[in-house]
Amino acid sequence: MRTISSAVEMTALAKEAKRSGKSVGFVPTMGALHAGHLSLVSAGRARTDILVTSIFVNPTQFGPKEDFSKYPRTLEKDSELLVDAGVDYLFYPTVEEMYPKDASTWVAVEGISERLDGKSRPGHFRGVTTVVSKLFNIVLPDLAFFGQKDAAQVAVIRKMVRDLNFDVHIFVCPTVRESDGLAMSSRNVYLSPEQRKQALVLYRSLMRVRLLADKGESDVAKLIAEAKQVIAEEPGVRLDYFEIVSSDTLQAVRDTSKGALVAVAAYVGQTRLIDNLLLL
Ligand code: PAJ
Repeated sequence: MRTISSAVEMTALAKEAKRSGKSVGFVPTMGALHAGHLSLVSAGRARTDILVTSIFVNPTQFGPKEDFSKYPRTLEKDSELLVDAGVDYLFYPTVEEMYPKDASTWVAVEGISERLDGKSRPGHFRGVTTVVSKLFNIVLPDLAFFGQKDAAQVAVIRKMVRDLNFDVHIFVCPTVRESDGLAMSSRNVYLSPEQRKQALVLYRSLMRVRLLADKGESDVAKLIAEAKQVIAEEPGVRLDYFEIVSSDTLQAVRDTSKGALVAVAAYVGQTRLIDNLLLL
């Protein structure tokens, strides 16, 4: 694996791969890699000739009071994991490389970027779509791999790709969980052992909705009320949102019969966690 920090060099390598008829796969990440990230890498390895992973803790997607400065940075271990997973290139730019001082262009997907996490974290998705656009232009991927764990991010990026005619196919991989159900996240390292137990309530609330939906309940208001009751049983956990929406538009649906995204975000202590499931 070669580690590249220059955008120009990364693009030259991607072009070289394409000239020789090879497909380019891309897994964008912020590092602190876990099995969730690695599932994207292995999906990419199986489907493309040249596989690029990026690690960039993107400042523009963090709010002023969020965890940008304390976000875990574990480059050495991440590199080892990526070598073992057969990644060809690690793109690891500095903040200055991605955002030169005079940069003033944003990519904003209006409407959808203000829903779910975008409502709770104003400006978050504008930061995500700006950096992902830049990364797509630098890496020139044929296929890019994202996790269902960040379902709203998937919807926003799919819309951006359609709206701006990006020549890339978005491949979505299922959420990877710990054995007890907790969705893997780089932020789980913030949790104390006590909070780690409390965090399971997110998964429990989703399972409650799945159970009721399987039994035939399709009234969204009832499903949400039940889920909120489950969350309320865990006093250390403060709900941010619990919503049932269309997985494409992120707009609220009234009943779940056509398939819907059930999404939850909650604070466990200071740590904001998200999880979701798709009702089919
Ligand atoms: P990050 O949180 O590092 O996640 C990188 C990718 O890994 C995302 O597509 C995310 O959905 C996926 N992922 C995280 N946890 C997962 C899990 N438990 N199971 C499956 N996939 C999982 O998402 C970002 O970084 C950033 O917003 C980024 C797209 C890199 C732009 O900065």
